[in-house]
Amino acid sequence: MIFDRNDQKAVVALLGAGSMGTAIVRRIGAGKKILLGDISETALERVGEDFRRCGYDVVTMQVNALEKANVVAFAQRAAELGPVMYFIDTAGASPNQASPEHIVNLDMVGTGYAVDAFGEVMGVGGAGLIISSQAAYMYPIPNDIELQLVNTPTDELKNVKFIQEVAMQNSGIAYMIAKRMNHLQAQRAAATTWNKRRARINTISPGVIVTPLAYDEFNANGDGYQAMIDASAARRTGTSDEIAEAAAFLLGEHARFITGTDLLIDGGVIASIRTGDFKLG
Ligand SMILES: NC(=O)c1ccc[n+]([C@@H]2O[C@H](COP(=O)([O-])OP(=O)(O)OC[C@H]3O[C@@H](n4cnc5c(N)ncnc54)[C@H](O)[C@@H]3O)[C@@H](O)[C@H]2O)c1
Repeated sequence: MIFDRNDQKAVVALLGAGSMGTAIVRRIGAGKKILLGDISETALERVGEDFRRCGYDVVTMQVNALEKANVVAFAQRAAELGPVMYFIDTAGASPNQASPEHIVNLDMVGTGYAVDAFGEVMGVGGAGLIISSQAAYMYPIPNDIELQLVNTPTDELKNVKFIQEVAMQNSGIAYMIAKRMNHLQAQRAAATTWNKRRARINTISPGVIVTPLAYDEFNANGDGYQAMIDASAARRTGTSDEIAEAAAFLLGEHARFITGTDLLIDGGVIASIRTGDFKLG
């Protein structure tokens, strides 16, 4: 049976078909053409089939976000499918899953490749969203270094002295810096490449959201996470659907005046840290 006879539908491209990404696409993808990209073919098969069985129009493509050529091909595939009106990037690894090098390469440089590549294909009025992290608020980067980083081309980011000497110290620091870089990458694109295409781009910085990625963190540092949850105003973890709700707003028509900004959704963890009510262990 043909569920949908429309053509030239708006394209939604998702890089990283994991928990948060698929929740966001489910929230905004009805009536659109969905392109799911992930490094895991198994995940793509499973998620693609789930979406199809729920009435969504989905194609999948294996993409390694670490490889610039792969990411460019992914953006081009999206453009072949129709006007690219939504791009969401959730491809990432957390501190207990990977080395500092891998985190810098994936969460920072890979995200940069994606922002650059989609900056060449976004449709007028389109919107993008990068999933950063509350960790972006935990390691202040000096202003002059931020200015240097924001003006460094993606291919050269890894060679910046600050990245080599500070970010590479351990996976936790690499993650905090990479996620702060996501804010700067969105700001740069909002002001330049994406702006030229009249497209918007923002970031969401989630707190502790229960997903497979978060379980890897709990298994390695359960006490630290428990203390963080207990000290937060919300006194609980968050869900991918709560992130998707905010994502739908930022990607949607009521957010047309919002670009180059970050929305922190952490149940109040960073507020507790900033006021000194909670100290990171
Ligand atoms: N879960 C949390 O508590 C939390 C909190 C803050 C930020 N984040 C960030 O949110 C994003 C999504 O996390 P999630 O919890 O939905 O995790 P998830 O593990 O469910 O999703 C991540 C997806 O990225 C894919 N991926 C990994 N490496 C890739 C690569 N090289 N190329 C392409 N795809 C790749 C994985 O296969 C997976 O499907 C990540 O960037 C993570 O750092 C998560």
